[in-house]
Amino acid sequence: MPAPDHAFVDSLRGLLDDRAILTGADAIGHTTDPRGVSATDDVVLVRPRDVDGVSAVVKACALAGVAIVAQGGNTGLSYGTHLPADRPSILLSVSRLNQIESVDPDRWTLTAQAGVTIQAVQEAAAAVGRKFAPDWGARGTATVGGGISTDAGGTNVVRYGNMRDNVMGLEAVVADGSVWDGRRSLRKDSSGYDLKHLFIGAEGTLGIVTSAVLKLVPATPYETSTLAAITDLDDLMPLLSLAQEHAPGALSGFELIPTFAMHRLAEVTGASVHLDAGTEFCVLIRLASSEPVDDMIAAFLSAGAGAGHIVDAIVAGTPDQETSLWHMRDEITPMTTYVEYQGLGLKLDTAVPIDQIAEFVRRISQRAAEIAPDSLCYGFGHVGDGNIHMMILPISPEAVEPWLAAKPAMEAAVDQTVFELDGTLSAEHGVGLLLKDRVGPQKQELEWDLMRSIKRALDPDDIFNPGKLIPDPEV
Ligand code: LAC
Ligand code: ZN
Repeated sequence: MPAPDHAFVDSLRGLLDDRAILTGADAIGHTTDPRGVSATDDVVLVRPRDVDGVSAVVKACALAGVAIVAQGGNTGLSYGTHLPADRPSILLSVSRLNQIESVDPDRWTLTAQAGVTIQAVQEAAAAVGRKFAPDWGARGTATVGGGISTDAGGTNVVRYGNMRDNVMGLEAVVADGSVWDGRRSLRKDSSGYDLKHLFIGAEGTLGIVTSAVLKLVPATPYETSTLAAITDLDDLMPLLSLAQEHAPGALSGFELIPTFAMHRLAEVTGASVHLDAGTEFCVLIRLASSEPVDDMIAAFLSAGAGAGHIVDAIVAGTPDQETSLWHMRDEITPMTTYVEYQGLGLKLDTAVPIDQIAEFVRRISQRAAEIAPDSLCYGFGHVGDGNIHMMILPISPEAVEPWLAAKPAMEAAVDQTVFELDGTLSAEHGVGLLLKDRVGPQKQELEWDLMRSIKRALDPDDIFNPGKLIPDPEV
């Protein structure tokens, strides 16, 4: 992967402070993600400490034709920050843009630079009696800029939406190095195209997001969850309706938990299995409110059991039990439980219309049984918003080779199923390089063409994260 030449790197050094540029072994540690995958083996990592520094770097790169790949917390799973193989590039980390610029409880906003972690935003909001709603397992490392650029989701989306729904305005450095300050705090604004939405989910292909005005919501001091065993995936949608009816406005999490994954987690970490009613799946459901929610949970469970959708359930009785249930949910990702095979397997970030979740899981499981019979196939995650992570993994060392041979056919079966059900291959992790060559048929070619036009208009020389996200045109 070509790094830019020394003279160019020296010219960047002249623009920034001493700590801003890392190369060689110093840089590699910053490019390796939690799976141990590195963006490149030879990288120039540039870490400006303010927006003027970002602007200066973009101007220099634009003049020299050097590509810029932006990096947040490096917790993305779609290889969106890998450097292009065919042209000189730098990795631009926002890690030192780490200031919370203002907390404004009366406006219900918080303004944070792109390198602030999601957890730091949550804590700053809580300190003034407000809440920043987006939340996911990598909260301590994932950043505002990365979350915006992938339109990240997590476990609160069923109530509060994903990052797109929680950003009121943003600041970005555009292709000629100019700084666009669009950090407005307006709940209504019908004065033209809402350009912030172009940068949300753009994966750094249109500019570098440097700061954002984030939306705060009322705090929910009462949060209680129940883990309910269900007999069948067809129980999911009736239960979702019952939860919304019995806890209007309070439902804030609705996650599918495979029972065997709880057992596997217990084996690996020594944690306890929270509930085992002998069924294949459980649902983890959280109610959150300014008032106690116990009565609502009791009414919901009674209705769910009465209608035959719930076989058994536990309710968190203390804050510690509540934390422990959600810790289990965070840990249940295969990064913890199947670390030896997860790099070889498929981890789907699919979403389908919510009434198609059970059908989707059935079809994928069926196809996996046909195509890769020695694989382990299961779904988990955010079923309340239609986003189901399915895993298809080799089940043993002997299964690795047949699995690798079957993988392309399995990917094709996944794509076909997603497209048939009007779903998406990427719900919250982005397209990156991982899905770029697969995502094309998901949208009309006209839609991709419109995106290509936007890319050309905002980044005519293709300096921002070239080769990502948008599929090559159909020939
Ligand atoms: C999850 C992340 C990996 O839901 O998306 O566990
Ligand atoms: Zn997820």
